[in-house]
Amino acid sequence: MDWGMKNRISRMIKPATGRSVMLAADHGYFMGPTRKLENPRKMLEPLLPYADTVAVTRGILRTSIDPKWDTPILLRVSGGASILKDDLSDEEITTSMEDAIRLNVSAVAISIFVGTSHEKQSLINLSELVNEGEEFGMPIMAITAVGKELEKRDAKYLSLACRLAAEIGAHIVKTYYCENFRKVADGTPVPLVVAGGPKLETELDVFNLVYNALQEGAIGVDMGRNIWQNDNPVAMIKAIRAIVHDNATVKEAQDVFAENKGKKL
Ligand code: 5RP
Repeated sequence: MDWGMKNRISRMIKPATGRSVMLAADHGYFMGPTRKLENPRKMLEPLLPYADTVAVTRGILRTSIDPKWDTPILLRVSGGASILKDDLSDEEITTSMEDAIRLNVSAVAISIFVGTSHEKQSLINLSELVNEGEEFGMPIMAITAVGKELEKRDAKYLSLACRLAAEIGAHIVKTYYCENFRKVADGTPVPLVVAGGPKLETELDVFNLVYNALQEGAIGVDMGRNIWQNDNPVAMIKAIRAIVHDNATVKEAQDVFAENKGKKL
């Protein structure tokens, strides 16, 4: 791996712990103005100091994140479908590598749709992006299973999808936590982060998910709704940081949340 690629990765995955708290805010690319992310600037600014990386599209980056911020950017570069369509898997690459470099991002992200009618298209999109990434020193994150594919959230499916992504050359893979997650992590020889999915009922559910994912081989999270749809998003991200970077237990994370909730942003 070249110096530039290594340097970009170590801005996102912190060398001190080998872990990362990535804040996902790229939902609008197919979901539109998702609840609580209607005004991305307002929601993201208080959270950026606590995020090791923020995942957005170029439109949200240019309009809603001040270039003064030092937070590394994970740029979503796939799209082409919306929630109005039954089939979300019909995606192409929407953003050029030149624009990603112009925006000084630390990695680019693309979804793959294993087992769908656009499986081959999404895997070829990933392979073309990896080819470009290797040329320009840009890490590529492959994202497994969004939308309806989430229904297949089991270790058999996710370990297949994550392994395919790693075999094609993705440098980081994002997936979902599931029962027997260790099987997914063991079969994926690149850093694996977990998304949160739709908002869970309680903070405790979120902390359990993060804690268990880390115990079973994830190196962190790339999480959105369970942070910014919470009424106390800053307390939430601080508590998740405690688990990821300070090896906090679920109980300790609850204490961090309790200490920080209700504080003025
Ligand atoms: C949207 C994504 C999101 O980044 C991913 O789902 C993580 O966000 P959340 O924790 O809200 O699920 O890929 O397409």
